[in-house]
Amino acid sequence: MPALATGPALRLDVALHCRRDRRGSGAVRTTMSEPDERSEAGGPAAARGEYASSYHAPVLAETVARRLVTDRAGTYVDATLGGGGHAAALLDVLSEEGRVLGIDRDDEALDEARSRLGEALRAGRLAVAKGSFARLAALAREHVSTSVDGVLLDLGVSSHQIDAPERGFSFRKDGPLDMRFDAARGRRTAAQIVNDWTEADLKQLFYDYGEERRAPRVARAVCEARPLETTGALAEVVREAVIPPEEIQTLARVFQALRIAVNGELEALEAALRALPEVLRDGGRAAVISYHSLEDRRAKRFLRYGNFEGRPVRDLYGELIAPMEPVEKGPLTASEDEIERNARARSARLRLAARRSEEAMAEWRTRVADD
Ligand SMILES: C[S@@+](CC[C@H](N)C(=O)[O-])C[C@H]1O[C@@H](n2cnc3c(N)ncnc32)[C@H](O)[C@@H]1O
Repeated sequence: MPALATGPALRLDVALHCRRDRRGSGAVRTTMSEPDERSEAGGPAAARGEYASSYHAPVLAETVARRLVTDRAGTYVDATLGGGGHAAALLDVLSEEGRVLGIDRDDEALDEARSRLGEALRAGRLAVAKGSFARLAALAREHVSTSVDGVLLDLGVSSHQIDAPERGFSFRKDGPLDMRFDAARGRRTAAQIVNDWTEADLKQLFYDYGEERRAPRVARAVCEARPLETTGALAEVVREAVIPPEEIQTLARVFQALRIAVNGELEALEAALRALPEVLRDGGRAAVISYHSLEDRRAKRFLRYGNFEGRPVRDLYGELIAPMEPVEKGPLTASEDEIERNARARSARLRLAARRSEEAMAEWRTRVADD
């Protein structure tokens, strides 16, 4: 993939909406249309769910592309490539000189994106890398640049991962208790956690990563029923431990907690957020889509304050010392239309932030180093 783009920098902050002229996946000419076609929840393309595939329907795809891209000839990192829906939307907004690096831990996702976006790959507009976004800075440096124009993190699992019983992510489908994004490198499976951890550790896991108040009861039931090897067996134990109709929520929280622990999701997210100020150029943007409060809290705090405690650090004049500045006051959410089409969009929160100037960064680094 060629290094940084050479074309003219066109700032898109102001008002634009890109209309697509599709010539096959990823090879799309973009034309600017009138500002009044803009809609926060996505324009006409999003309304048709145009970037959805049988693999996954990306959430807020058009909004992400439009708000993340500030230079159509720039270099962008989609750090959660999945089925390539968001990457396709980004490529549509970018000019021929614009570049996307797609990262994922999952081989199936990488294969899917390579096949969907083959044309962009062959044209050198897209590069694909296997790895964790915990290594965002190293992967960006290795594959594109030390200073990029935007980074997208669309957290969690894809629909394809949930729908594939053999991956073990779903409590609705019977399969092995696996849940690893990267089966080749994953340290442990959900079965190992369920069967080897103590009752006290499982209880803490369901509290901390599932925010599940029935954690003690569920942990006790799991320990009494083990060994448990399948998602079906675990789901049955959880169902019997709680009183209907709350069982579905509890199941969702217990499976979420296990998935987070299996993949070290929160540690990876914190590492990626910490890397953002280092990989983004001055004014470059980050877009983080989260699906539950554990993720959103981390994104919100880091993008606002540059730390995970949500602690404002101010200079003598009361100005915030932070590496990033939110583009919007609060999170952007999907429209009712999109939620109707794609239930997953209901819990999505999109946060956008821009990297501050070199001076602000230097001040933040000094203060962080002093802490
Ligand atoms: C919600 S899906 C992304 C879907 C994608 N935006 C699309 O349009 O198809 C999240 C993806 O992130 C990947 N993922 C999760 N944790 C990761 C990590 N630490 N590093 C890289 N990829 C990760 C998952 O394998 C999954 O494919």
